[in-house]
Amino acid sequence: MSVEQEINRRKTFAIISHPDAGKTTLTEKFLLYGGAIKTAGAVKSNKIKQGATSDFMEIERQRGISVATSVMGFEYLDTLINILDTPGHKDFAEDTYRTLTAVDSVILVIDCVKGVEAQTKRLMEVCRMRKTPVMVFVNKMDLEGKDAFDLLDELEDKLQINVQPLSWPVGIGVDFKGVYNLFDDTLKLFEPGKQKIEEDRLMIKSLSMDDLAPHIGEEKAKTLIEDVELINGVYEEFDQKAYDEGDLAPVFFGSAINNFGIKELLDTFCKIAPKPKPRDATQRMVEPHEDKFTGFVFKIHANLDPKHRDRIAFMRVCSGKFERNAFYMHTRLNKKLRFNNPTTFMARNKSVIDEAFPGDVVGLYDSGSFKIGDTLTEGEKLTFKGIPSFSPEIFKELVNKDPMKSKQLDKGINQLTDEGVAQLFIKEAGRRKIIGTVGELQFEVIQYRLKHEYGASCDFQPLRYFKACWLVSDDQNKLDEFCRIKINDIVSDKDGNMVYMAPSQYLLNLEKAENPDITFHLTSEFKTDAKMV
Ligand code: G4P
Repeated sequence: MSVEQEINRRKTFAIISHPDAGKTTLTEKFLLYGGAIKTAGAVKSNKIKQGATSDFMEIERQRGISVATSVMGFEYLDTLINILDTPGHKDFAEDTYRTLTAVDSVILVIDCVKGVEAQTKRLMEVCRMRKTPVMVFVNKMDLEGKDAFDLLDELEDKLQINVQPLSWPVGIGVDFKGVYNLFDDTLKLFEPGKQKIEEDRLMIKSLSMDDLAPHIGEEKAKTLIEDVELINGVYEEFDQKAYDEGDLAPVFFGSAINNFGIKELLDTFCKIAPKPKPRDATQRMVEPHEDKFTGFVFKIHANLDPKHRDRIAFMRVCSGKFERNAFYMHTRLNKKLRFNNPTTFMARNKSVIDEAFPGDVVGLYDSGSFKIGDTLTEGEKLTFKGIPSFSPEIFKELVNKDPMKSKQLDKGINQLTDEGVAQLFIKEAGRRKIIGTVGELQFEVIQYRLKHEYGASCDFQPLRYFKACWLVSDDQNKLDEFCRIKINDIVSDKDGNMVYMAPSQYLLNLEKAENPDITFHLTSEFKTDAKMV
């Protein structure tokens, strides 16, 4: 098969949702369809159960699962599908944001009872920023949820995206009778049952009262006919371009646990979801079908086995063909590296591969060369865009509890922050270390992992900071002067960039107003980020 054909048959996406909406269940049903697993229950949820914040075994268990489920590849109807897993827990949101840089589209799962929840809104903002095509699956239609038209309004309103139903539910909850496919005008009847497969279900290929009423009753048939008429009147023909550009989200309804409505979703996904897309680098746009290989690291897992200090860096191939044992340029270090056991993931099986193509995610064993965002090429100096550090929300000073182990502490915190668990800032005065995270849970993870993996003990001293702002100015003198005056609130990030730790929104606004020559950025990707703050 040519590289072009390999690219054309790949689709790389993530399923995102607020915890408990059904992401794990839907992933599992997709894998069942692809024949990648044989039984339900094979995919473990990687969510940290509520109340488990101090249960470190739970964190470790979750880490183990999340390596196994980081990427799940399977084949369906000649399409090679890569699902990238995203943690649902809000404290790990940054992990999810980074994973979204490595996909070409997403499926958003909504619980029909709860509608659009907080985490969904935040994830959607990231998709919107990146113009990622989104398909929506409204799940749990077997429960008494919200009215379908109201849900469409809620989606448009809260997610700020145009939506268009491509399937339509008949009834809801105990009254749920099936889903009408607006794409091919067929009605599939619902019967509850986890073991049912979609092909078992009765299909009605008509929208006439006579054909529908015997199966769903006169009243439901009448409503369906009216609903479909209304939908066809309101919505124009599905606009593929608007979907590709992230402006229109097709919506499907179903019940993942009952294996209902999944096939429509998956079949349509295979038809409309984008193949590997070009990726923007600081220097230029990189097209998938270019001859030369390029890729970037979006996720790192370290020290899963405390006896071996190895890590797995997850790299998305962006262009060309990646080959085992070839030398590639690590552009940040300006160093050639060779990988003799690159790994891919088919469902839950890892295997060493000889080659990989754009859209694929390859696991690279690494002894500490990689940081998130690192780029590999055949020699060209490239840096892929779109993997910024967002300002953390919680800041604490790292306090060493065991002075005999300060080397271990330094090494541990450096490696954990390379992995993206948290961000590290250094205060010039006294070289004090400040850790920034998006959630409290990370501090517990850091403390636990430093102890268990590096033998170092630490404590955290809460700091009253509001946001970290990366500073840029064309006038170096003004910047130096600002840093001198604000010395107590100035730190540097791991790459040596100057960062102002704003104590409050009020003071940040004040400093912005008083220093018009300095720009305060809330993400570290200020050089390329169009969204200046
Ligand atoms: P998540 O990964 O998004 O967090 O959600 P997950 O798939 O784990 O699903 C959350 C809960 O919702 C699970 O129940 C799951 O069985 C249930 N669920 C998923 N799809 C449907 C559906 O279509 N209808 C109904 N009624 N429930 C659904 P749980 O009790 O938390 O876990 P489990 O004991 O069933 O595994």
